[in-house]
Formats: sequence, C-alpha cells, structure tokens
Amino acid sequence: MPAIVLVGAQWGDEGKGKATDLLASRIDYVVKFNGGNNAGHTVVVGNEKYALHLLPSGILTPGVTPVISNGVVIDLEVLFGELSALSSRGIDVSRLRVSANAHIITSYHRTLDKVTERFLGKRQIGTTGRGIGPTYADKINRVGIRVQDIFDEGILRQKVESALEIKNHLLVKIYNRRAITADEVITELMSYADRLRPMVCDTSLELNSALDANKTVLFEGGQATMLDVDHGTYPFVTSSNATSGGALTGSGIGPTRVDRVIAVVKAYTTRVGSGPFPTELFDDSGEYLRSKGFEFGTTTGRPRRCGWYDAPIARYTTRINGVTDFVLTKLDVLTGLDEIPVCVAYDVDGTRVDEVPVNQSDFHHATPIYENFSGWTEDITGVRTFDDLPANAQKYVLALEKMSGARFSAIGVGPARDAIVVRHDLV
Ligand code: GDP
Ligand code: IMO
Ligand code: MG
Repeated sequence: MPAIVLVGAQWGDEGKGKATDLLASRIDYVVKFNGGNNAGHTVVVGNEKYALHLLPSGILTPGVTPVISNGVVIDLEVLFGELSALSSRGIDVSRLRVSANAHIITSYHRTLDKVTERFLGKRQIGTTGRGIGPTYADKINRVGIRVQDIFDEGILRQKVESALEIKNHLLVKIYNRRAITADEVITELMSYADRLRPMVCDTSLELNSALDANKTVLFEGGQATMLDVDHGTYPFVTSSNATSGGALTGSGIGPTRVDRVIAVVKAYTTRVGSGPFPTELFDDSGEYLRSKGFEFGTTTGRPRRCGWYDAPIARYTTRINGVTDFVLTKLDVLTGLDEIPVCVAYDVDGTRVDEVPVNQSDFHHATPIYENFSGWTEDITGVRTFDDLPANAQKYVLALEKMSGARFSAIGVGPARDAIVVRHDLV
C-alpha cells in the first residue's frame, strides 16, 4: 500500500512538477493536498511545455487519477480554465476527483488579498494575490465556503451573507473599496455547480480504499517547507501546511499509510516574495543563476531571488518532513562555474549556528558560512548515470547528500522529462 508524499525542500519552485511527472507513470493517484493556484509547476513533455497551477502535475500522465483533496483552496474559474486548456491540448481530464470539503476562493478573497497587501506597504508578504491567505483565514475562522455548499442555494446564501457582513465593513470603511453583494458571489459560484457536481466525492474515502486495494498514491505538495505556515519563515509564508504532515490532514489519510517522503531540492536556492533568505546573492552570481536557471515565477512572472545552496535548510527539511529521499534538481544550471559556495552553517551575531534558528530575528540576522566546491565545465544535460557525471559534480552531490541527512535518489540535469539521473528507485 504505497503512499508517497512529495514536498518542496526550500521556498518553492524546486521542480516538484517535474519530479511528480517522473513518478507518474508508476502511480495510480496523484493528490494535491494544500494550497491553490498560488502554485506554478512547469512540466516539459517532449516539445510541449505545460504550466499547471491548481491541478496536480500527475494529470499529464494517462491513466493517473488526479485528486484535489480537502486541504486545497479552489478558485473555480481557474479550475475550469485549466481543465479546458488541458483538454484542448489532448489531455484526458475526465478522471479528476474533487473533495466536497475543499474550500472555495471567492471574489472577496481575491480582493482582500490584494488590498491587505497594499495596506501593508513595506511590510507586505509579496503574496501571489490569488486570495489564498483570506480563504484559509475564513476556513480557520469557520466562515468559509466549501465545495459542497454550492449545491444548496439556501445554505450557500446563509454562508456568503455571514462571511460578507464584516468583510464589507472592512472593504468600504477601511480599504475604500465597493461593497460586494451576496447575489453576485452566489450567482458566480452556482454557475459552476452543474459542471463541478460529477467530480465531487469523499476523496478521503476514495484514497483510503485505493490504498487498501494496493494502489500507489502520490501526494504532491504545493509551495515548500520554508513557506509552511507552521515551520516556514513566518509571517513570510503561505497560509497552508506544505510539509508532509499537511498531506495527512489535507487528504484524510493516517500517518501509518505513508511509506516514503520525497523532498525536491534545487542545487541552489530561490525565493519569490519577501522574507529572510541568508544565501541570497545581489551580485553577478545571482544574476547568473537567474538567467541560466530561468528563475522567473510560473504564476506571477516575478524574477525569483537567487542564492547558493543552504545545507542547514535541507537538514531542517529532513527533520520536519521525515524525508527518506531527495530529488536534487537543476544541477546543470551550475555547469561552468569555477567555484560553487555551499552554506554549511550560519553566523548569527558572531556565533556559529548549525541549524535553522527557531527564533525569527536570529534567522533574519543569519549570514552564511560557506564551504567552496570546485566546479565543472562539461555539459551534463545528456548524462543519465551518476558515474558519468564529472568528478566535481559527483563530489558536489555527495557533499550535499552527506549534509542533508537523507539519500539523494535522483538528480535533475535539465528541464526535459528524461533529463534525470536515477540512483535509487523512488516508487
Ligand atoms: P515547482 O513549483 O516546484 O513545480 O517548480 P517550477 O515548475 O515552478 O520551477 C522549476 C523550473 O525548473 C521549471 O521551469 C522546470 O521545467 C525546471 N526544471 C526542473 N528540473 C530541472 C532540471 O533538473 N534542470 C533544469 N535546467 N531545469 C529544471
Ligand atoms: P510552488 O508550488 C514559490 C510565496 C509567495 C509569497 C508567499 C505567500 O510553485 O512552489 P500566497 O499567495 O501563497 O499567500 O503567498 O508564498 N509562494 C510561492 N513561492 N512557489 C510557490 O509555489 C509559491 N506559492 C506561494 O510568493 O511570498
Ligand atoms: Mg513553482
């Protein structure tokens, strides 16, 4: 009964989409368990490039059943937009299952996300503006709208009216925006009801039955460990649990089901939006990583902040998620560098610190202590076995592996689907 959880190890955009796609041919179900269309996964299949936001990346593989489980927040316009874009490119999307308990992102959540960010000014989080935070806030506040609510107009009206009561005061009196009427929200949400109904089910029941029947289920995390609302660089995080624990609560399976936890980690580090980032580069090296790694957001197009690999973060990811295997991505981007610095510990106000500090101010003050590794010049994009990698590339990978606390089972050497070196089978 293999249940596999796959999460991001850093601040997102590690290549989770590609890693999921790699495993998809050997799995039966792929589950998106957290986040919403703040995610952006680019998957390259042959000459085709797909950008997925709300749908799990496994949807691209024929025969896989994609699932959006209860932990996700769903923008219905985005959902149907993505589905029709994929089907017009010949992808079969008919098996998609959607949890009756997932929460819905409405127009007032999107509006509130944008106006609160504007209001924060310099202190803004740099959210994707997709309404993620306000929707999860309503969920926790018990005034959210769930998928099942849109099939009963009476219940939907009650819930939308009570959710809007305070929000309209906020929008009009504080943020100087127009009030949103319950009718406009209800009309919009109900316009999707007939198309949504056949996809909706008890996804927890379906996934547990699948595991009972020895099917393989992959739980594909959005965002990443350092963006997790509990374990990330709060408040510069997303509003969901992007770590492996989130796969359990976000889908309704128990911890005893999980056999393997895979973390996807980039051979350097990137971050979008605000917040601390000890190894961030502001010089030509950062520009080099950005342009060579094509580090521009899949969702918002923003240039990603770039920096060297941070080993304490990988070790932290192993601890928080119970990582069994890493997939290292984008090793090819480092080709051509003379020296590759790796952060092995931090200096916090004159003291060496080996682990990610629990105190946020300490993390803000942390400066990296680097160890330098020698680079390589050979093109590695065609390499398919570890032994064929240049000696210095092998040394780099083995050093990162040693510092991370879990084995590096696969190594990405290019964006293409097959540009990967597999050292240990992941399924
Ligand atoms: P995700 O959000 O974790 O799924 O990652 P994104 O898709 O946002 O960003 C990762 C980017 O790196 C995508 O454009 C991928 O096509 C690309 N990518 C993934 N693995 C590799 C790799 O090993 N080498 C290179 N050069 N690109 C990769
Ligand atoms: P994938 O799945 C990178 C960041 C935003 C912002 C913060 C909060 O592609 O790795 P939100 O809209 O979630 O409230 O924004 O989180 N963020 C991401 N950064 N990759 C992502 O997803 C992200 N999803 C959210 O930039 O700093
Ligand atoms: Mg991404």
